[in-house]
Amino acid sequence: MPRLVKIAGPAVLLTVGFISLLVGLALGGGAAASPLADPGAVVRYGLPTAQLLFNISAAATIGTLAMVCFALDDSRKEYAAALDFAAGAAAVWTVASLFTGFLTFLSVYLQPVTFDDRFGQILGSYLTTVPLGQASLVSTVIPAVVTVLCFAVRNHTAMFFITVLAVAGLIPLALQGHAAGSAGHDMAVSSLGLHVVFAAIWLGGLAMIVALKRELEPDRLGPVLSRFSTLALFSFVVVAASGIANAQLRIGTLNNLLTPYGLLVILKVVAICGLGLFGAIQRKYLIAKISSSGTTRSGHFWWFVFAELAVMGFASGIAAALARTRTPIPQELVTTTPAYILTGEPLPPELTPIRFITEWKFDILWMLIVAFAAFFYLAGVRRLHKRGDRWSWLKTTSFMTGLAVLFYVTNGGVNAYEKYLFSVHMLAHMTLGMIIPVLLAPGAPITLAVRTIKKRTDGSRGIREWILLAVHSGVAKVMSRPVVAAIFFAGSLWVFYYSPLFRWATQDHIGHTFMIFHFLLSGYLFVQTLVGTDPLPYRAPYPMRLVILLATLAFHAFFGVTLMTGTGLLLADWYGAMGRPWGADAITDQQTGGGIAWSIGEIPTLALAIFVLIMWARSDSKLARRLDRKAARDGDSELEEYNSMLAKLQNRP
Ligand code: HEM
Repeated sequence: MPRLVKIAGPAVLLTVGFISLLVGLALGGGAAASPLADPGAVVRYGLPTAQLLFNISAAATIGTLAMVCFALDDSRKEYAAALDFAAGAAAVWTVASLFTGFLTFLSVYLQPVTFDDRFGQILGSYLTTVPLGQASLVSTVIPAVVTVLCFAVRNHTAMFFITVLAVAGLIPLALQGHAAGSAGHDMAVSSLGLHVVFAAIWLGGLAMIVALKRELEPDRLGPVLSRFSTLALFSFVVVAASGIANAQLRIGTLNNLLTPYGLLVILKVVAICGLGLFGAIQRKYLIAKISSSGTTRSGHFWWFVFAELAVMGFASGIAAALARTRTPIPQELVTTTPAYILTGEPLPPELTPIRFITEWKFDILWMLIVAFAAFFYLAGVRRLHKRGDRWSWLKTTSFMTGLAVLFYVTNGGVNAYEKYLFSVHMLAHMTLGMIIPVLLAPGAPITLAVRTIKKRTDGSRGIREWILLAVHSGVAKVMSRPVVAAIFFAGSLWVFYYSPLFRWATQDHIGHTFMIFHFLLSGYLFVQTLVGTDPLPYRAPYPMRLVILLATLAFHAFFGVTLMTGTGLLLADWYGAMGRPWGADAITDQQTGGGIAWSIGEIPTLALAIFVLIMWARSDSKLARRLDRKAARDGDSELEEYNSMLAKLQNRP
């Protein structure tokens, strides 16, 4: 039986996937002809089928690349075999994306295919000017590039960037379909994006293990499987949380669970429970058994993988049908207020101090980032304590407080209002760029990770190896220079607000997410170079750190004052067109934002300056103590030498 696995595995996945898709389309009515616009049965059934193939081949590519990055040893044949498999899967993904893009065009074009000039022109302008067409183009070009790179590149570090590129190939999908609708757009994009990416890592990782059945040496299945199991557990949590968050937006109340859309979601919940069970059995019994027996011959294991692939196929088939099924909550525009037309969400009630606590706008991405960061940090501290090592509670408290503030800024009142008020946006910016990094950096997460994550000994790279690679990289060498970090931090203030970046980050959820990452990263780097205790390739002398800090302080103040005194409205067609019946007018609110940039920016900078002074004083006293200990040990030979040198100078004629 093991001989057939390489063919039978994918065959089971695709067959069960296709059958589940047909069942899901029948149940949900996703392929039913609509009286108004019927593109024909070929398109109605062809599109979700092509989408299913797109999802599965994208998963096989991304999952394999994730395993190449985190599980495989680049000196063994498993590595090259995996990249060949990823290249093949990416080629299928490219073709599936071409078909999905073309069938999507036909589903909106609703004219017969004629292949004449006019048809070509319309298709061309659709692909280049219509967001749906542009998304199809991007989702085709990226897998095509990934195909070539998987064939041509073998460098392990480069694989990380190719994986990121492949993941980007899934983002257009997260922006289309029901997520393109206006209802809860931001949460829809975040949740679907996370959902399809981690479903891909999970499914693709399993597909890779089947594809590499022969290339994996007998003693390798155990370690590779246990690393897949860790990725799968992580994906299980993210897929379930993001799936439920996305389903909640479409279903709303429990009564809608019995609608066709609701029933398909229930089927997916059943599927993920089944996959969870598979995962638990794998972790509890199979990995230990295979690692101890050191053989891949056991037929039982492969039957197990078969069954798991079948459930994956079922979930993928239902998923592709779900994307074509009418949602119980309409996704179209429901009111025409200026705020709703601009943001896709209703204007929140008038902002009052209490509303900063009572109003919430959750973002599943940051909820999960904060939850995982807190979990892994505390797990690291616990592991240190268990082996008798100390870790200051101050560090833990500071880091956890930083995470709590990050959770609030990305999910609480600030997140609920920042789209409508420039002042609240600036509050978010200053907190992300200054306050949170000043709390996170003293927590020394890199040191904790490097001290607690087990070292890999088989040539593969785990989180620890990737962290050390990043910390010792050329980029880190440049970015760890306080001057560079300060320019990156303060300079990006001006670049961000006086370039199209601000509009992108305000109007587009992907742009908004990038903005949060950028503010956090630039602030963290700046604080890390000044007061961080984590390893860095370069440490500037304390006087220089203070000078840079004061210069940045001035730069920040100048930026704040410019806004406070400015009369030109930034993004006037956004903040000025919101139609808010409450609060200050847009320009006054912008000037308040300037005041916040100036004031809030200064407080953490002052704290940093005090930090640097304390560390400076401490390092001096440490140096003095060390010199004293040395003097005590060697009878102060240094002073002796110095005095004898002075004596020689004095005695010189
Ligand atoms: C708790 C279990 C799950 C829930 C509640 C869930 C829910 C959802 C929802 C609501 C969507 C969006 C459909 C739409 O556009 O309206 C979706 C899409 C998707 N789900 Fe899940 N899902 C779950 C588990 C899974 C699993 C286990 C997989 C595969 C391993 C999966 C793969 C996908 C894929 C690939 C899509 C994108 C479909 C497309 O747009 O073509 N999901 N899921």
